[in-house]
Formats: sequence, C-alpha cells, structure tokens
Amino acid sequence: MNIETERLVLRPFLERDAADVLEYLAEPAVNCFACMKLKNLEEAQAEMRKRISGAEYSFAIVHKETGRVIGEIEAYPESSDPHGDGNAPQDTFSPCWMLNRAYQGKGYAYEAAYAFFDYLFREKGARRIYAYTDDYNIPSQRLCEKLGMRREGLFVEFVSFVSNPDGTPRYENTMQYAVLKREWLSQHREL
Ligand SMILES: CC(C)(COP(=O)(O)OP(=O)(O)OC[C@H]1O[C@@H](n2cnc3c(N)ncnc32)[C@H](O)[C@@H]1OP(=O)(O)O)[C@@H](O)C(=O)NCCC(=O)NCCS
Repeated sequence: MNIETERLVLRPFLERDAADVLEYLAEPAVNCFACMKLKNLEEAQAEMRKRISGAEYSFAIVHKETGRVIGEIEAYPESSDPHGDGNAPQDTFSPCWMLNRAYQGKGYAYEAAYAFFDYLFREKGARRIYAYTDDYNIPSQRLCEKLGMRREGLFVEFVSFVSNPDGTPRYENTMQYAVLKREWLSQHREL
C-alpha cells in the first residue's frame, strides 16, 4: 500500500532504505527514540528486514524529488480498553513520526501525517488517534495542533527513556494530544 501526496510517497520500508534511515537514526533526535538508535549500515539493514512485516502501519516517507527516504511515520492498532478482556475494538492509534533533520521545517511532516491520519480514519478503522510528546518538543506539539488534535493533558514525570549521570532515571513530562474520527471528518469534509 502506497499513500501519495503532492511532494511525498509513503510506502513500506525496503532493505535498500538502510543508508537513508541510518542517516537520521544514527543519533535519534529525541530521548523517546533512544532505543531505535542504529550503530552501522549492517544494523540498519537488519532493521529494514524487520520492518517489512509491518507494511500496513509503518511507512517510509519518500521525497519524490530526490527519491530519498527522509523520515518515517507509523502507528499500530491498540485496544480502546487496554485493561479489558481483549474483546474491545482495536480502533485506537498513536503515531510515531520523525524526519531527517535536513528536511525539517519544510512542511513535510504535516503533509505525511495528514495523509497518514486520513488513511487510518478512512481505511483502517481508526476511531481515535492520540499522540504523546515531551513538553519541550515544540515542533511535535505544533504538528499535533496543525493536525487539529486537542491537547488533553500534561503528565508530569510520566516516563523515563534515559538515565541521569548518576544512573537514576531521568523522567520526562509528557503532553497528550488526540483527535477523534468524527472531529477529523468534520474538519475535512472536502475529502
Ligand atoms: C516533529 C517533527 C517530525 C516535525 O517536523 P517539521 O518539519 O518541524 O514539521 P512540519 O511539517 O509541520 O513543518 C514545520 C514548518 O515548515 C514550514 N514550511 C516551510 N515550507 C513549507 C511548505 N511548503 N508547506 C508547509 N509548511 C512549510 C511551516 O511553516 C512549518 O512551520 P510552523 O509549524 O511554524 O507553521 C520533526 O521536528 C522531527 O522529526 N523531530 C524529531 C523527532 C520527534 O521529535 N518526533 C516526535 C516525538 S514525540
């Protein structure tokens, strides 16, 4: 499945994307992606092979003009009742988005995320899409707001991805944003 926008194609990852992905995952930009760090091309190729199985929900963001993979966007179905008996619908999604630094500030993340949200709501049964973002991650918060997501709350010292120099966990404050399908459709009636 490919999703096409004016300047981008969202498509499943291929093994040959390894070098482009290594370029932005050699030093993940934010602590929440620290565990995705790739050490070398071999590790990146192994990672690409793993990603091939998630093709419906995990997309490489390809820049049409250069043919390069400039980032990624993904979200997998989650239960609307995570503590229930497993019978609740899998209609909730939480996207992870990331661009190569050289391609940020050009509207590509918004273009990709808008198309991805529309795909999740219209084709993949999404009822609610929510996003977590660190309280200092202004570009990600702006992206949520431009996508019409509501700010739902701030979780103080919610999660730890990295340690302090003394080995204790460093906790982050996390903002939650969300948009419902009915809100999305009423904002984008033209589509
Ligand atoms: C979060 C992230 C994906 C946002 O990327 P981005 O490029 O800043 O986001 P956008 O696509 O919304 O583009 C931003 C700017 O491009 C500008 N822009 C320039 N040319 C444009 C064009 N042709 N069309 C639209 N916007 C354009 C816009 O004005 C916009 O600025 P604004 O938000 O002040 O209005 C990016 O910062 C990133 O990869 N960060 C590291 C990973 C990360 O933090 N992920 C989220 C973890 S929660």
